[in-house]
Amino acid sequence: RIPLLIDTDPGVDDALALLMAFNDPRHELVGLTIAAGNVGLEHTVRNALKLCEVCGVDAPVYAGAAAPLLHPSPDAGYVHGRDGFGDVGYDAPARAVEAEHAALAILRLSHEHAGKLLLVALGPLTNIALALKLDPTLPERVARFVVMGGAVTCRGNITPAAEFNIYFDPEAAHIVFEAFPHIDLADWEAVIAHGFLHDEVERWLQADSARARFYQRISEKTRLWSADRRGDHWHAADALAMAYALDPDGATEVLDRALAIELDGRHGRGATIVDWRGEGGEAARVSILMRYDQARFEGLIQAALAAI
Ligand code: BDR
Ligand code: CA
Repeated sequence: RIPLLIDTDPGVDDALALLMAFNDPRHELVGLTIAAGNVGLEHTVRNALKLCEVCGVDAPVYAGAAAPLLHPSPDAGYVHGRDGFGDVGYDAPARAVEAEHAALAILRLSHEHAGKLLLVALGPLTNIALALKLDPTLPERVARFVVMGGAVTCRGNITPAAEFNIYFDPEAAHIVFEAFPHIDLADWEAVIAHGFLHDEVERWLQADSARARFYQRISEKTRLWSADRRGDHWHAADALAMAYALDPDGATEVLDRALAIELDGRHGRGATIVDWRGEGGEAARVSILMRYDQARFEGLIQAALAAI
């Protein structure tokens, strides 16, 4: 089985992506490293522990960065709930977080699974940037790196130009995108092209499983927010990245391009600038997911929710 390490900031769509990973027999989850992002670190860690508990998954959970590298950034509690899981007041998880810092765990696990590791980043890239600063050889040991982030034609979701994960910590994203020789990217614009009808999601959530029942509860608030703001379709960004990670054959269109992170600018901070014409002289090191088989994507989600 392929060793899988997920860096995440749960987060309602992170939770759906994690359910997909928990349900995949081809991958072995070796750890969850947690950052602040959607909400503060105390919540993202607690949410990860709780989700593992509900699902009977014993993968270790490591706490990492509580803030971006340089500049404080507002969270997304207005989307995911103040606690990141819809403020449903779930019972405290019985399990505890590991003592090791997430950045150190990433490095250790990269050695233990050198050349085989699938690394998936579903939140701001702070933990991975810290790991890279401690040991710049990290990319040599990662077999594949999948990132959810960016808005490749600058139609962002947090500013007009930028997507949340990159905007939250642009300096970290810059470090990470400069360091890895190759990144598979699921950006916000691909997410918008792969929404689900709200009624359909409701139907999936009726599955007779503890996972579906828990997910129904924690996602209700954000689905209502989304229906109000974004119309008929619900968009689960991290779930698309996870589909690309777990089942890359479902990708039907991928474009290889050079990509840079904008750090400055009054309007552009956190934007992902793609050299679409390929004339900038930089190597095309990012494989941008443009289209994924929608039926296959929905099948992965339904199966993850229905799993016992
Ligand atoms: C990304 O930002 C977060 O709010 C989601 O969890 C996802 O990772 C989408 O822009
Ligand atoms: Ca996320």
